[in-house]
Amino acid sequence: MKTSSRRAIGNASFFLIATTFLVSPGFAADAPTTVTNIFRPLSTPAQAIHEVSLLVLAICGGIFLVVGGLLAYTVVRFRHRPGDDEREPPQIYGSNQLEFAWTVIPIVTVFVLFLATARTIYDVQGAAPPADALNVTVVGHQWWWEIRYPELGIVTANELHVPVSDAGKRRPTFLKLESADVAHSFWVPQLAGKTDVIPNRRNLMWIEPIQPGTYVGNCAEYCGTQHARMLLRVIVHPAEDFDKWTTAQRQPPVDDPQARAGRDVFFATACINCHAIRGTKAMGTFGPDLTHLMSRETLGAGTVPNTAEKLRTWVRDPQTIKEGCNMPNMQLTDDELNQIVAYLLTLK
Ligand code: CUA
Repeated sequence: MKTSSRRAIGNASFFLIATTFLVSPGFAADAPTTVTNIFRPLSTPAQAIHEVSLLVLAICGGIFLVVGGLLAYTVVRFRHRPGDDEREPPQIYGSNQLEFAWTVIPIVTVFVLFLATARTIYDVQGAAPPADALNVTVVGHQWWWEIRYPELGIVTANELHVPVSDAGKRRPTFLKLESADVAHSFWVPQLAGKTDVIPNRRNLMWIEPIQPGTYVGNCAEYCGTQHARMLLRVIVHPAEDFDKWTTAQRQPPVDDPQARAGRDVFFATACINCHAIRGTKAMGTFGPDLTHLMSRETLGAGTVPNTAEKLRTWVRDPQTIKEGCNMPNMQLTDDELNQIVAYLLTLK
C-alpha cells in the first residue's frame, strides 16, 4: 500500500473515532433536539438500546486500545535502526498459551456481547402493551407518513402526537407499521430503534417518551427519489395537552362560508381522488388527510414550513418543492389557486 493512501485511511479512521466520541458527550443536555442522536435517549426502548450500545462501544474501544497500543509499541520499539544487522529475529512456532488466549478471549467477548444484546432485544420486543397504551397505525407512503388513531377516529400525516409517559402514569404508544408501496423504515433516534416498514406485513414497535417536546426522525431505508424528504416529527404532550389535541382533531372540518368558492373548486377537481376531508365526499387515501391540514407544522413530510405562502407554492406545483412526489401540477388558474388555498387555510 502506498504511504499516502495508508495515511488517508489512518486520518479517516481517526476522524471516525473522534466524531463518535465528540458527538456523544451531548449526554449532558437532555432536551429533545433537532439533531437525530441515539446518544440522548428520552424513551424507554431508546434507553435500553443506548445502554447496550455503550457496552458495545466500551468493549470495542478497549479492544481497539489494547491492539492499537501493542501495535504502536511494537512499531516504535522494534523499528529499523541504522547499524542493525540484517538477520531475522528468532522465529517461534506453536505456543499453547498464546493460541488458547486468542481463542478463548474473543469467544468470551462475543458471548458477553451476544447475551447483552439478546436481553435488550427480548426486553424491547417482548414488552406487552399496558391496558391504557395508545395504539397508532403508521403507514409509510412514497414519501410521507400516514398516521391513524383507530380508537380515536383521527387520521393525520407526518406528525405523530403522543402523550408523555411519567413514573406516576406510564403511557407508552404502540405502533403498527405498514407500507402502502415499497419498504420504508421508521426511525426517531431519541425514542426507539429503527423498524422496517414493509408491504404486506405489519411490524410492531413502541415508544415511551419521558419528556414533552418535538422529536425528529426520518425514513431510514432508501425508498425512492424523495427518501431524504420523508421526515417525521413526534410531538410529545403533557397528558392534558394531548387530550386537547385529540379533542381538536376529532372535530369535523371547519366549514367557513367565506371559503365556499374554494371549497367548490376543491370538490370539483381531482383533489378529492387522493385526499380525504372527513365527513365530505373527499375520501381519497393516496395523499394525506386534509381535515385539519393547518394544524400541522410542515408540508411535504417536513420539506417546508406549513405557511400560507408555502402552501400556495405547493398547490400551484408541488414538483417545485418536492420533485418527483406523487402530487402533480394540477394546472389551476390563478383564481382557482387562490380560492383553493383560501379554503385549505381554513382547515385548522
Ligand atoms: Cu421512505 Cu425512505
